[in-house]
Amino acid sequence: FVNLGLVGQPLQHSFSPFIQTCFLKSSGINGGFCCFETDGGESLKETFLTLRQYGFKGVNVTVPHKQAVIDIVDTLDPVAETVGAVNTVRIGDRLEGFNTDAEGFERMLLDAGYDLSGKDVLLLGCGGASMAVLYVLKKYNVRLTVVNRTLSKAEAVLKSMSFDNVQLQDYNFIKGDSGFHYVINGTSIGLEDGNFPDMNRVECSCASVDLQYKKGLTPFLQSMRGSSCGLLDGFSMLVYQAAKAFEIWTGVYPEFSVETISGELGLS
Ligand code: ATR
Repeated sequence: FVNLGLVGQPLQHSFSPFIQTCFLKSSGINGGFCCFETDGGESLKETFLTLRQYGFKGVNVTVPHKQAVIDIVDTLDPVAETVGAVNTVRIGDRLEGFNTDAEGFERMLLDAGYDLSGKDVLLLGCGGASMAVLYVLKKYNVRLTVVNRTLSKAEAVLKSMSFDNVQLQDYNFIKGDSGFHYVINGTSIGLEDGNFPDMNRVECSCASVDLQYKKGLTPFLQSMRGSSCGLLDGFSMLVYQAAKAFEIWTGVYPEFSVETISGELGLS
């Protein structure tokens, strides 16, 4: 029996238990997925010791503990180290920390038939959520334009990732005509009020990707509907990052359909 779980606070709205349970079923693995709401500090450390004691194979880590867990794990994979956040821990003799967001983003695009290599990419927002995306964009040697409200914050993030050769712009940039193969939203704009800046002047030829998700189209994806491009949202990325975590814990990459999972959760 494979014991898996999720550590964070609060957890009642998390889709991870449902997604991981789908993976257990489709992989024919006998197991379960439990939620552990825990405080930070010593409680967080104790949670991991207890999980190991009870034979848990691995857990996802979510807000607010993704950074704090770095000090608890024994090893970090290169993505977690670069982006400064752990979302997956494999529990054995050692606690191994991973960040599966980068591979989730990459594989989501590959499975949909997209190739980032050397392409023109516009990234809106350059905060924590954008870092895993930047990790992948760097690998594919894209021609990158970043738009961020606070240029100094974006500069610091790009520098921390040794990402040079980037055009950094403020939001006036999207008021002029421009064209990209990919446009990616890593901001939290519109989450609360549903309003996103007008993207009518930005042409996107391959895919627009939003790291946010909600039931139906996100405000950003709605604003990109004028372009004849594919639309991918953060729910798809959530499922893909979960699949990579599942593979790290069990050695099996699960079979899944994002549409089926999102339909079963009432999101589509
Ligand atoms: P996360 O970890 O979710 O990425 P974050 O690090 O606070 O959160 O980053 C949120 C991103 O959304 C940032 O790029 C932020 O821009 P700033 O760097 O200027 O803060 C952007 N963002 C959030 N609210 C915004 C708003 N109202 N207008 C423009 N950008 C906004």
